[in-house]
Amino acid sequence: MREALRGERPHRTLRTVALAGVIAWAGWGAAVAGTAPPAPWPWSNAELPPDRRAQLVLEAMTPQEKRRLVFGYFGAPMPGTTYRPPRAARMGEAGYVPGIPRLGIPAQWISDGGLGVATQRVSTDAVRERTALPSGLATAATWNPSLAERGGAMIGAEARASGFNVLLGPGADLIREARGGRSFEYASEDPLLTGVIAGAEIRGIQSQHVIAVLKHFAFNDQETGRTMYDVRIRRAAARESDLLGFEIALEQGHPGALMCAYNRVRGRYACENRWLLRRVLDRDFGFRGYVMSDWGAVHSTVRSALAGLDQESATIFDHEPYYGAPLQDALRDGRVPETVLDAMVERILRSMFATGVVDHPIDPLARLDLRADRAVATADEQQGIVLLKNTGSVLPWPRTLRRIAVIGGHADRGVLSGGGSSTVFPIGGNAVPGLGPTGWPGPQVYLPSAPLGALMAQAPQARFRYDSGRNLAHAVRVARWANRVIVFATQWATESKDASLHLRHGQDRLIAAIAAANPQTVVVLETGGPVLMPWLDRVDGVLEAWYPGSGGATAIARVLFGAVDPSGHLPVTFPGSRADLPFRTLPGAGLPADRAFVIDYTRDGAAVGYRWYQRHGREPLFPFGYGLSYTRFTYDGLAAHLVDGQLVVQFTVRNAGTRAGAAVAQVYVGPEKGGWEAPRRLAGWRKLALAPGESRTVSVRVDPRLLARIDRHGREWVRAAGAYRLSLGDSSAHLVQSIRIDLPAWEHSVRWPIAVRPGVPAVPQAP
Ligand code: BGC
Repeated sequence: MREALRGERPHRTLRTVALAGVIAWAGWGAAVAGTAPPAPWPWSNAELPPDRRAQLVLEAMTPQEKRRLVFGYFGAPMPGTTYRPPRAARMGEAGYVPGIPRLGIPAQWISDGGLGVATQRVSTDAVRERTALPSGLATAATWNPSLAERGGAMIGAEARASGFNVLLGPGADLIREARGGRSFEYASEDPLLTGVIAGAEIRGIQSQHVIAVLKHFAFNDQETGRTMYDVRIRRAAARESDLLGFEIALEQGHPGALMCAYNRVRGRYACENRWLLRRVLDRDFGFRGYVMSDWGAVHSTVRSALAGLDQESATIFDHEPYYGAPLQDALRDGRVPETVLDAMVERILRSMFATGVVDHPIDPLARLDLRADRAVATADEQQGIVLLKNTGSVLPWPRTLRRIAVIGGHADRGVLSGGGSSTVFPIGGNAVPGLGPTGWPGPQVYLPSAPLGALMAQAPQARFRYDSGRNLAHAVRVARWANRVIVFATQWATESKDASLHLRHGQDRLIAAIAAANPQTVVVLETGGPVLMPWLDRVDGVLEAWYPGSGGATAIARVLFGAVDPSGHLPVTFPGSRADLPFRTLPGAGLPADRAFVIDYTRDGAAVGYRWYQRHGREPLFPFGYGLSYTRFTYDGLAAHLVDGQLVVQFTVRNAGTRAGAAVAQVYVGPEKGGWEAPRRLAGWRKLALAPGESRTVSVRVDPRLLARIDRHGREWVRAAGAYRLSLGDSSAHLVQSIRIDLPAWEHSVRWPIAVRPGVPAVPQAP
């Protein structure tokens, strides 16, 4: 449990620390190189399938070597303990598993995370400076899997050039809790959007021969009590919601590894949960990679090993080194059969072969093309920014503006990023140093991509004045001076703490005062997730820029001045008030940190996000799927037919405006007579870049699981025969055309694969 370790370390026994140290120094310095010349081992033959190669290595391994692969180290020193990482670990590394040089098996050098190459900064100021992608929500807001894949490839290449061959990301937990502290690391509240985006990121990362680790399996939806809560949910509802997101990500990305979460699910810790790991993941999803634990998420040896946990990560965080001496004991007396250890090791090796980690040794001296990497981050953000409000088409701003006031959010220096293990320390250093917390999960990091400078570059004729917003009267004077005002509002969110829906530090008051002084005010939000906007009626424009990443300022400025048409759409519902949420008060809030509690999802089951709002007839502030453009699109021609039993939907989108732009055409579906967890589900989408006047007719294949429910016994996806309503629109709440379709009954075992018909895109295509 990381947060405890960062402060006073609770039950860490000296025995554990000493044991870890002894093992660390026991002759593994040899694993440093990672560049062993190819040797004539039978498994060196890259023509053999990964399973066969893994088996051959396994046959050559000693019992001690096998145990070595399932036991992970933390890669940074631990404050308050004598723990030091093995010498062969990289500076500030999240995890390290020694290799077996004798057999040509490299070490696993493990870094966070899904948004870029992070540094564990627990006791040293040394950081590794790398390119940060925009937050996970920003990438999902692009609704563009090819951008997600490019982003994955970029951070995969940076990981490899930094000496890492395992990257801890992406995260695919559904955003069930609007205040979730880690929403910025995740993708969305919808299983299809989440699975497609996370799957694309995985493909990108692994294209660089780096293992992607899909996390946190499952239901790590909030940070409050994340190691203490137990999620209650029916199996079928779990499969139709959060687990479906993971399932799609696994199918589309084939990650080498998956990380089990801190929390309990249906009464059992996720990392020793047979239902989750053996039945759902192995049997139903057919997952072939290995399962690693979150840092401090292991609670047993025998139960975990038998349930399907293959590797204990960063053992120092657990109460015992469960996969060290206790595993050896359990193997000796047969509580864990040798065959179980063999299967664990084989899965790890298989992934190392399948992703190319063995055949393509990392080269820490490889050169990075930082300019190109930054361009990838900028492109992602450009399509991820969501235009929420644009009264009277005040945006885009003309470049001929004379006086522009820029207020707040440290916009003269940089853009914000999220906190905790995913923190990427940016090239050029933290633009606003000294903002707490001083220890983990801090500090707050601003990436040196300054909106003020980027705006000036877009409008070189204009005069700009910046005000920090700290002195209200002064900020108001600056706002009065200007023809146009832009207020940057920031909200830091972090792992280990949930967020507030209210902008902090008087920013709501600041925005209201500025808008009163100058009605030509636009607000740019840099937030980890949704926030309330009590000032919404008083401003002309609002842009959600999320955490914008290393090239974020350029993207924001281009969108404001119209060099880029905004095409982001919300991957998460923005509530109008706390009363709109499934839980008014965060479950577990106010309880002592060591008190276990239950989060009851049985009430709404699979009705997550927009489905929950629709089921209860609540109107959010901004609905899932919503986003404005500077141009106008029309949607029509909705038609559907069955091709080999699979629903294929066709429609036409036209750019009816005078500017080029990109539409996100969304298809929703639900049974005419109800009976699902909610009236409608997202069934597919297409993002289409269209010139003025251009129209395109496209098809979307609907994943049959989105038209079905899981039966009571959890064995089959079942679609009832009958009438369904298919709707087309540009958000979950704005449906412009809908048709009735009649579908025959359909059943399919929950065990993948469902046959995919070639030729019709299963993955939404990007422009
Ligand atoms: C987080 C994981 C992360 C790991 C290693 C944990 O606290 O939950 O997401 O990958 O630390 O830093």
